Amino acid sequence: MAAISFARGAPAPECLPVQELADCARAALERDGTAVLLYGPGGGYGPLREWIAERHGVEPSRVVITNGSLQGFVFLSEQLVKPGTRVFVEAPTYDRPLKILSRLGADIVALPMDDEGLIPEELERALDAGEKPAFVYTIPTFQNPSGRTMSEERRRRVAGIAGERGVLVLEDDPYGLVRYEGEAPPLLFDLEGGVNVAYSSSFSKTVAPGVRVGYFVFPAELAAKIEALAVSTYISPPFLTQATVHEFLRRGNFEPNLERVRGLLRARRDAMLEALERNLPADASFTRPEGGYFVWIDFPSGPDVDELFTAAEEAGVLLVKGTDFFPRGQGGERSARLAFSYVSPAEIGEGVERLGALLGAAAPSAL
Ligand SMILES: Cc1ncc(COP(=O)(O)O)c(C=O)c1O
Repeated sequence: MAAISFARGAPAPECLPVQELADCARAALERDGTAVLLYGPGGGYGPLREWIAERHGVEPSRVVITNGSLQGFVFLSEQLVKPGTRVFVEAPTYDRPLKILSRLGADIVALPMDDEGLIPEELERALDAGEKPAFVYTIPTFQNPSGRTMSEERRRRVAGIAGERGVLVLEDDPYGLVRYEGEAPPLLFDLEGGVNVAYSSSFSKTVAPGVRVGYFVFPAELAAKIEALAVSTYISPPFLTQATVHEFLRRGNFEPNLERVRGLLRARRDAMLEALERNLPADASFTRPEGGYFVWIDFPSGPDVDELFTAAEEAGVLLVKGTDFFPRGQGGERSARLAFSYVSPAEIGEGVERLGALLGAAAPSAL
C-alpha cells in the first residue's frame, strides 16, 4: 500500500507547466543568451527584477531574487541575527525558518495567534518585554502551517506597530495568489509603505518550486547588504531559471497557469474539508483556508501527536507533527499539519478516513 502523503507542501505534479517552461527556457536562451550565461548582478536577472519592482511599486535595486525565498530568509537572518538576538515568530510557524534561526542562535520569541492570525496585543507585549527584535516573521496569508489568514483589521494594526516602533516585519507571502475564493486583504507591505515591512514571495507555488526563484523587496539599505551577501555566497544566481520565469511572465502565461493551478488545488482543498467534516471526531477542529496548501487540525482529546504520527505511518498516512512548528517544540502536542496540495482528491478522502479512524479510536467518548 503506497503511503498517502499529507506531509509534502508541494504542488501536485499536474500543476507543473512542464512544456511551457521548456519552451520558455529555449526562448530565454535564444533571446538573451549572453546575459543569461555570464556572471551578472547578485540581486537577480535584470528584466525579472524590473517586473517584480513594477508590481510592488519600488525601485529594482530594492528587489533581491534568491534561490527560492528560503535562501533569502537565510541571507536576512545571517545579516541581522547573532547568538542571543531576539526574533519574533508566529506560533505555530513554518518549520524551516525555525531551524535556520536556531542554527544562528537566535532567541526565538513565540507570538500567539488565533483564527484571525497574529494577535497585535501580543506583539506589543513582546516588544515591551525586552530588546527590539531583529525582525518579526509573519506569514499573514494562508499561513504555513495553519492555513490561517490575518484579518484586514489586524494587518492595519500590525503595520501601524511596525511604523510606530520602527520594527522590521518580514511579510512572507508565497501563497497569497493561490486563492480559491474570497477577497484578498491588503498586504502589510502596502499598508505600511514598505519602510519597516519587507516582503517576500516566490514563484514556487505559482509556477514551479524546481525553478527555485523567490524574491524579497527590502528597504534600500538592507537590499544592498543582502545583495552583497548573495554575491559573496554564489557570485550570481542561476539566471537561466530566472530568465525562464521572466519569459513565462512576458508571454502572458502566468495568469492562465495560475487559474489552472487554482482549479486543481481548489478541488483538493474541497476534498480535504469534506473528508475532515465526515471523519474527524466531534471535538476535533480544523481550519478552513480560502487558499494555499494547508489545513491545521486540533484533536484535544485524541492521542498525542507522536503517537498519532506513528500510528498514521503504519496506516499509510504521512503528516507533519504540530510540535515541529513551535519554537523548541513547545506547543502543538495535539495538532498536525495536513497538506492537501500534493495528493489527489481520491487519496485525500482515503487518507483522512484512515486518520479519522485513528483519532476516533483514541477518543471513543467523542464518537
Ligand atoms: C511560508 C513559506 N515561506 C517560504 C517557503 C520557501 O519557498 P521557496 O520554494 O521559495 O524557497 C515556503 C515553502 O514551502 C513556505 O511555505
